[in-house]
Amino acid sequence: MRIGLMTSGGDCPGLNAVIRGAVLHGIKSFGHEFVGFRDGWRGVVEGDVMELPRQSVRGLARQGGTILGTSRTNPFDGPQGGPENIAKVLEHHEIDAVIAIGGEGTLAGAKRLADAGLPVVGVPKTIDNDLQATDYTFGFDTAVSIATDAMDRLRTTGESHHRCMVAEVMGRHVGWIALHSGMAAGAHAILIPEFRESMEQVSEWVREVHDRGRSPLVVVAEGFIPDHRDEAIAGKGVEASGRPRLGGIGEYITQEIEQITGIETRNTILGHIQRGGAPTGFDRVLATRLGIAAVAMAHEKQWGKMCALRGTDVVRVDFSAALDGLKAVPRERYDEAKELFGR
Ligand code: F6P
Repeated sequence: MRIGLMTSGGDCPGLNAVIRGAVLHGIKSFGHEFVGFRDGWRGVVEGDVMELPRQSVRGLARQGGTILGTSRTNPFDGPQGGPENIAKVLEHHEIDAVIAIGGEGTLAGAKRLADAGLPVVGVPKTIDNDLQATDYTFGFDTAVSIATDAMDRLRTTGESHHRCMVAEVMGRHVGWIALHSGMAAGAHAILIPEFRESMEQVSEWVREVHDRGRSPLVVVAEGFIPDHRDEAIAGKGVEASGRPRLGGIGEYITQEIEQITGIETRNTILGHIQRGGAPTGFDRVLATRLGIAAVAMAHEKQWGKMCALRGTDVVRVDFSAALDGLKAVPRERYDEAKELFGR
């Protein structure tokens, strides 16, 4: 069997470990051959492939990013897109199976192709940990440890200057990174897209901490929307949706805290640092296990399925299981963290 691997969507620490796990297992256990599609679905629709011999994956588990490159190309867009063209590309390159490694968008594309009869299996990927079908996605643990380390550092500079420090982390739709890194770093408020909080409430938590002579630390996910209950705040630099008009949410929160409390406040946007560099041990292991499982699925021609982590087991689920809405932070998990806000 000749198997094509592709990585698509935002990059994620652990992608290379999936590639390594798949190639080593596939060559050693089944004698399969591997190629990689360059830059996600673009490489698939354009037939841009590279050979992946055993030596190409040496030392890859610890390497960040993806050696295949990635893009946000939709496999159905443009004159070259769609299942018929992709089937021709696979035939031309004598590729018998595609392992699509990606998040919600990638898996939705993979599902449509599998439904059209193409030999596609999937591996879930996102630092945001927001896919329904799997308990954890690789990349999440790495992002959490990078954000935790950053907040530990913000604390020492914040304490030296008696400032409130705000850290904006990734999470457009869900707040898993903010929740976990915030709890790990002992943040005094964690603000996530799933639950609104008013700036008065946030400022109250900040003030409580400051009054005890400590430096308040606030973590905010990029998709957080404040609760503009206060008439004085509503409408001020805020869109109808509740999102700040200019700058990121971290900047907005920082200005509001400073204005309401009078405490000097600084904002840090962690951005793509959370996605860069080497994966943690946990993510290397999870990614390697998923790579092995994906090859086994392709070997058994289990098209239309993806591997997922349930508890400590790697299982097989239909693509549709991953596409049933995003996995949001449940109320109980947020309330649990909230017990320590302002403390
Ligand atoms: O989906 C993963 C993610 O890291 C989000 O948390 C973030 O909003 C987005 O990607 C950033 O994407 P880009 O790399 O395209 O700026």
